[in-house]
Amino acid sequence: MPTTAETRPQPARRELSEAPFLVAARGGKPARLPVWFMRQAGRSLPEYRALREGVPMLDACFDPEMLAEVTLQPVRRHGVDAAILFSDIVVPLKAAGLDIDIVPGTGPVVASPVRDAAAVAAVPLLDPEQVAPVADGVRLLVERLGSTPLIGFAGAPFTLASYLIEGGPSRNHEHTKALMHADPELWHSLAGRLADVALTFLRAQLDAGVDAVQLFDSWAGALSPRDYREFVLPHSARVLAGVAEYGVPRIHFGVGTGELLTAMRDAGADVVGVDWRVPLDEAVRRLSVPDSAPDHARPVVQGNLDPALLLASWPVVEAEVRRIAAEGKAAAGHIFNLGHGVLPGTDPEVLTRVVELVHRL
Ligand code: CP3
Repeated sequence: MPTTAETRPQPARRELSEAPFLVAARGGKPARLPVWFMRQAGRSLPEYRALREGVPMLDACFDPEMLAEVTLQPVRRHGVDAAILFSDIVVPLKAAGLDIDIVPGTGPVVASPVRDAAAVAAVPLLDPEQVAPVADGVRLLVERLGSTPLIGFAGAPFTLASYLIEGGPSRNHEHTKALMHADPELWHSLAGRLADVALTFLRAQLDAGVDAVQLFDSWAGALSPRDYREFVLPHSARVLAGVAEYGVPRIHFGVGTGELLTAMRDAGADVVGVDWRVPLDEAVRRLSVPDSAPDHARPVVQGNLDPALLLASWPVVEAEVRRIAAEGKAAAGHIFNLGHGVLPGTDPEVLTRVVELVHRL
């Protein structure tokens, strides 16, 4: 019998219905504007750099105590409204046995790029047991986080596929786009396998108790809306639909996705992440237009401060935060965040000040 959420033992999901992050994610009226930051755990924090000293990234991701501690660091320091699990989008692929590593300063690198049918067939599927240390880390966090919600995540099929096909980070995603168009059947077979991997990874986190999930399709903005809908949306939609039964908010995020916002919503998101290129009120206007899905009159958005501006002076940052909070009022719910991850050179004290300011607005 296939394991489903019904047949697996489920921990009691924490009762956090008043948490501002979860209220906003559901389009309700939170007690305060909630804020967290993508990549809030990481190199901007001296306590992170100290803990990671001499520990390779992918070792840290399979050490429950370490991943729990790194996840908690920004919550303690900044007082953010949500924790995001410290892991990486390539963790489930590594766990499943794929030869992949994270090279400092570069990103994920695979030993042999996946570009033909044999290589696609050899992409391993994930057994939940292989990410047991991640689930153990989630259970530690659920005990230690108190009333702060925990966000789990996975990489979306397109973004994962780009790393596998290109062999590493890519500016143009040329091998990925070429394969997609030259051999759609092979593309769909690879994207389907990666959707299975992402879904298994998310379910493992949900079974261990995460309170929300974010699907990172960081590089989807490289695609035209037409290609996105044909080659990517069905696979991301299967991942998002596959976790719907848990009833937790599903956030869908990508960079440079101004032209894809409605398509990413149609994939099944409850919350659409927006980068800094599209003002939130404009994003809400775009998302309010019904498309293939029936009722989207009141979208919920997350974003969208340009992470580079955190390196500007405080008056610049403050004006940006105020503008974004005001523009976010157009949405049914707004979760304040950056438009992409915290840059390593960011002064963590600026992040703490942003949290304080957002909470006063
Ligand atoms: O705080 C958080 O947001 C949670 C942790 C997190 C990491 N990676 C930790 C990490 C999350 C959510 C991710 C997801 C991730 N990983 C994405 C999607 C989000 C995004 O930024 O668009 C992507 C594209 C990756 C792939 C990846 N992993 C890259 C591009 C890098 C950076 C490489 C580098 O050194 O510049 C990584 C490594 C990585 N993942 C680090 C961290 C903290 C840095 C490694 C280190 O500290 O040594």
